[in-house]
Amino acid sequence: MGAPVRLEHCDGVAIVTLDREDRLNAIGTAVVDALAAALDHIASDPSVAAVVVTGAGRAFSAGADISEFAAFESAARFESFIAHMAGTFGALHDLPKPSIAAVNGVALGGGLELALACDLRVASAGARLGVPEVKLGLLPGAGGTARLTRLLPPGAAKQLLLTGQPVTADEALRLGLLNEVADDGPTALNRAVAIARELALLPAGALAAAKRLVDEGSELPLGGAITLERETVVALFASPDREEGVAAFLEKRSPHFDNRRL
Ligand code: COA
Repeated sequence: MGAPVRLEHCDGVAIVTLDREDRLNAIGTAVVDALAAALDHIASDPSVAAVVVTGAGRAFSAGADISEFAAFESAARFESFIAHMAGTFGALHDLPKPSIAAVNGVALGGGLELALACDLRVASAGARLGVPEVKLGLLPGAGGTARLTRLLPPGAAKQLLLTGQPVTADEALRLGLLNEVADDGPTALNRAVAIARELALLPAGALAAAKRLVDEGSELPLGGAITLERETVVALFASPDREEGVAAFLEKRSPHFDNRRL
């Protein structure tokens, strides 16, 4: 059996592929371990500027591995499994580098939670996204209810959580669960990689700061968020990338940022 997660790296973009095609990339302990190792590598590799997460075959991921957790002997064992999953998805969310989910088929349960831990989501037209756990007497436990509630209006989050019914890519786009819908086939991955390559050309410090302002700023009262924004922008003003970006604009040339490694 091959590694359940593949990591490739090209032009500043790391592509992380869940590779358990025969189980629709169901997420068991081995997948979480391999994903955590790939994210450690990405976090410590300065030549990776942006990340794409996708699934091999016809699914992004059909969620947590039901066969594996069905055999757990106690709720405590289940807790350690979902804590590992939530921690790993949290590490993806907290990367100071932008991440894009390329949803090439179903993204259900833990699969959607993984996509929700990314900054942006692109899906193929035939993709279906949902959290069917309620039908198993469960609910998402790896950050899914928390992230859905922050991303979507409460009514839309409740629609997904209470009914367990997946939505089409077009409905997901309308709800704000997706940023883009691409044609079926490899287009979602191609599109996600194209976006990631564009991001990889931008100043890494400004990208990391933009993530922080949205993620931390949205948890603060408005006044605190505006203070954080001002402090962040003032720090960016003093950065070499800001000097280069502004100089390039005034000199009518392309900028060469510190993180540009292409
Ligand atoms: N955990 C473990 N195995 C899974 C799985 C999961 N979450 N999702 C799919 N699989 C396995 C199936 O058991 C099947 O294995 P088999 O060939 O040994 O029988 C294989 O992957 C292919 O899935 P299958 O159900 O035959 O494909 P399908 O196209 O008919 O249906 C789904 C696709 C996604 C609708 C269906 O697999 C499904 O409902 N999966 C569970 C989704 C879910 O509830 N996720 C939340 C988990 S908490």
